[in-house]
Amino acid sequence: MVPSGLLPGVCRTSPIALLLVCCLLPPGAQGQQFPLRLDVQSPVVPAGGSLLVNCSTDCPNPKLITLETSLSKEPVGNGLGWAAFQLSNVTSNSQVLCSGFCDGTQMTSSSNITVYRFPERVELLPLPRWQPVGENLTLRCQVAGGAPRDSLFVVLLRGEEELSRHPASGEPAEVEVTVPVLAGRDDHLANFSCRTDLDLRPQGLRLFQNISAPRQLRTFGFQGPILNLSEPSAPEGTAVIVTCLAGPRVQVTLEGLPAAAPGQPAQFQLNATERDDRRIFFCNASLEMDGKILHRNSSVQLRVLYGPKIDQAKCPQRLTWKDKTLNVLQCEARGNPDPQLHCFQESSGLEVPIGIPFLVRLNYSGTYSCKAASSQGTHTMTVVMNVRDRNSRAVTIVLGVLVVLGLVTIVAALLCVFSVQKRSDIYHVNQASTWLPLTSKQPEVATGEDPS
Ligand SMILES: *[C@@H]1O[C@H](CO)[C@@H](O)[C@H](O)[C@H]1NC(C)=O
Ligand SMILES: *[C@@H]1O[C@H](CO)[C@@H](O)[C@H](O)[C@H]1NC(C)=O
Ligand SMILES: *[C@@H]1O[C@H](CO)[C@@H](O)[C@H](O)[C@H]1NC(C)=O
Ligand SMILES: *[C@@H]1O[C@H](CO)[C@@H](O)[C@H](O)[C@H]1NC(C)=O
Ligand SMILES: *[C@@H]1O[C@H](CO)[C@@H](O)[C@H](O)[C@H]1NC(C)=O
Ligand SMILES: *[C@@H]1O[C@H](CO)[C@@H](O)[C@H](O)[C@H]1NC(C)=O
Ligand SMILES: *[C@@H]1O[C@H](CO)[C@@H](O)[C@H](O)[C@H]1NC(C)=O
Ligand SMILES: *[C@@H]1O[C@H](CO)[C@@H](O)[C@H](O)[C@H]1NC(C)=O
Ligand SMILES: *[C@@H]1O[C@H](CO)[C@@H](O)[C@H](O)[C@H]1NC(C)=O
Ligand SMILES: *[C@@H]1O[C@H](CO)[C@@H](O)[C@H](O)[C@H]1NC(C)=O
Ligand SMILES: *[C@@H]1O[C@H](CO)[C@@H](O)[C@H](O)[C@H]1NC(C)=O
Repeated sequence: MVPSGLLPGVCRTSPIALLLVCCLLPPGAQGQQFPLRLDVQSPVVPAGGSLLVNCSTDCPNPKLITLETSLSKEPVGNGLGWAAFQLSNVTSNSQVLCSGFCDGTQMTSSSNITVYRFPERVELLPLPRWQPVGENLTLRCQVAGGAPRDSLFVVLLRGEEELSRHPASGEPAEVEVTVPVLAGRDDHLANFSCRTDLDLRPQGLRLFQNISAPRQLRTFGFQGPILNLSEPSAPEGTAVIVTCLAGPRVQVTLEGLPAAAPGQPAQFQLNATERDDRRIFFCNASLEMDGKILHRNSSVQLRVLYGPKIDQAKCPQRLTWKDKTLNVLQCEARGNPDPQLHCFQESSGLEVPIGIPFLVRLNYSGTYSCKAASSQGTHTMTVVMNVRDRNSRAVTIVLGVLVVLGLVTIVAALLCVFSVQKRSDIYHVNQASTWLPLTSKQPEVATGEDPS
């Protein structure tokens, strides 16, 4: 029963002996013309398992068919050209080698035995006691053991849903994934877990899965706080109610005014004015969670519909310009929505541009009606424009000078007439005596000028 060259019973060949055999056998020996077959029941075995190895050949007179291995082996049978062995307690990957002789030539054949084992521990690390909605949750999974590692994958799960899959590396392998926790996804009380996939399907086996104990997530959210305006766009003069509300146990503070009690809304009313347009309301919510106080805030902007209003300060009501000059009519109106502003000459109905330069002509003189209009109404203001002729001033000056000259002439003439009348009163008596000295003086003036 026992083939020659094999010791009966269980025997263990040392790795050194195996190595020796390998070295002693020249590859490509003549005996390979009758190859030695090595059939393994399954080359992938569970750790600690056993397998049957059959060394066989078609050589007509084979000798010394044996199996070299570092594993515990037991011959389980032999026949013409074959010998079978049972390997047991396979705990690590190893190589097995059949050898034999055919007509004095050595024949060999080897095979690798792969051991697989399930992970000893698959664990999802504890989740935070309370997870705030809207924040990211980090899931960590630890896997100890498991082989072969290149066939092992770690899968993180939310319920049945696969969140991510990672190769297992390191010992213990630790993988982590970050998932955003959303209020609308029923994450509250969701069960998270992690699973290992030992995929031995390429080796002709199957997919082995191990799953961790689930961990249930408890989430909390402020749902905001929700800050509400009874009217987001309120016409001026209407009452607006601002409400701030958050979840149960949440204390809210609206514009510095706290709600009566936690879980209660905070509210206030205002009469919308122009100054409240674009006003931002601020609500602050706080919640105590495991001794920690968490804060959230919200803000909302109010739009007040008002106007239109024309600013008297920004819109001069009297303008005096010169003819044929470039001028700008400055005028502004305010309001929400933005009003449209137009100025028309009352007499002609012609429009003048606002804010852009234009050439002023004499016919621009007159009263203008500036009208601001929006869905909220209209506002009109009157502007008086006075355009003067360019030369009017020069003419005025010339006229003024002429008037002054005329006056001076008249006055001089009057004075002359007056003085002549006075003189005639004096010299009427002896006209001849006055005449003579005047004629006698003339040669004196002439002689005085000669030397020069
Ligand atoms: C070993 O292989 C030979 C040849 O293929 C076969 O005849 C024999 O039955 C096998 N032995 C066992 C135990 O499977
Ligand atoms: C299997 O092998 C391991 C070590 O390789 C050893 O500790 C264990 O005792 C063996 N078991 C049996 C049943 O031989
Ligand atoms: C067995 O594994 C070794 C490396 O561990 C490799 O070199 C060899 O080719 C393998 N043999 C077979 C038959 O797969
Ligand atoms: C959550 O993680 C995603 C990417 O994974 C990131 O884009 C996002 O900003 C994170 N959110 C928070 C609140 O940290
Ligand atoms: C999570 O598991 C618990 C108990 O195992 C179960 O009561 C609960 O319904 C599960 N939650 C979900 C969202 O399936
Ligand atoms: C892992 O899964 C396999 C089957 O897939 C099972 O036989 C084994 O007991 C599991 N191991 C653990 C630690 O749960
Ligand atoms: C806040 O406003 C939304 C819609 O604008 C409305 O559905 C909700 O009921 C309001 N909540 C409160 C507390 O007024
Ligand atoms: C709001 O104020 C305006 C003017 O100050 C007033 O006419 C109006 O009646 C007020 N409205 C309310 C609701 O108090
Ligand atoms: C929010 O309210 C809490 C107390 O309720 C306070 O400590 C915190 O400073 C407030 N934050 C802001 C921004 O007002
Ligand atoms: C309000 O909350 C946001 C984010 O939650 C934060 O960035 C901001 O600083 C907070 N504002 C105040 C005034 O506390
Ligand atoms: C002034 O007269 C000119 C033509 O001379 C005309 O084009 C312009 O519209 C007039 N403007 C006004 C405001 O009457």
